[in-house]
Amino acid sequence: MRAAVLLGVLSLWLGACRVQAAAVFAHFMVTNSENFTTYDWEINMKFAQQAHIDAFALNMAYGDATNEPSLALAFEAANVRGFQLFFSFDYAGNGAWPKATVIDYIDQYGSNSAYYHYKGKPFVSTFEGPSSAPDWIDIKKKTGCYFVPDWSSLGAKAALEASPGVPDGLFSWAAWPWGPNDMDTYVDASYMEYLDGRPYMMPVSPWFYTNLPGYKKNWVWNGDHLWHDRWKQALYLQPEWVEIISWNDYGESH
Ligand SMILES: *[C@@H]1O[C@H](CO)[C@@H](O)[C@H](O)[C@H]1NC(C)=O
Repeated sequence: MRAAVLLGVLSLWLGACRVQAAAVFAHFMVTNSENFTTYDWEINMKFAQQAHIDAFALNMAYGDATNEPSLALAFEAANVRGFQLFFSFDYAGNGAWPKATVIDYIDQYGSNSAYYHYKGKPFVSTFEGPSSAPDWIDIKKKTGCYFVPDWSSLGAKAALEASPGVPDGLFSWAAWPWGPNDMDTYVDASYMEYLDGRPYMMPVSPWFYTNLPGYKKNWVWNGDHLWHDRWKQALYLQPEWVEIISWNDYGESH
């Protein structure tokens, strides 16, 4: 009995240590920071820090005029606040990023003291872009980045096969349940199985409602107690990272 209690306490303690070593990010739509001042960035970062979020995943569509001015302000603010940032290149918004542009962005900011590093390498993610998977052989060679893409349109197995050896881990976009169902962990489990020890970035989202006829999108997904259920699932699965979807994607209400 005593031994069982001790073991229980020990596993709780080990569990807590594991959680501290891991990190939580929030997906941030840079296009929505078009009119931000450094003060706006600082306030957003302050709220994120109060919520124990470690970094913003800066989602950027290729060619968006907001990207470059916003990055300058965001990194300035992050250095003031002691907050962290990393790039999440969006290959769906305006199509594929040219390889050379990705390399330039990582070269410019990857060694900034506010850029999030993992195992000593600048951490880089994506939203989609599996058909550009081979680009990352050179991008990784030139920048030394740690690469955790979201190629969810393929699923875990095909994402790992898109350019073998290129992903260091994977991010899944499957944060919502279908129809009236409650959220489960089948997709997460498939990622963790195929990753076979490589790190997994698990998505957590409160809900999803969108009505944007211009993008032919109009749906609401079951989010009644999704936030609560999903964090329990994260505590159970203990992924290396959690990415909250999202911080400010107003068009999808998540
Ligand atoms: C920025 O301000 C302009 C002018 O008021 C406005 O049209 C635009 O929608 C704003 N952008 C964002 C992302 O809020």
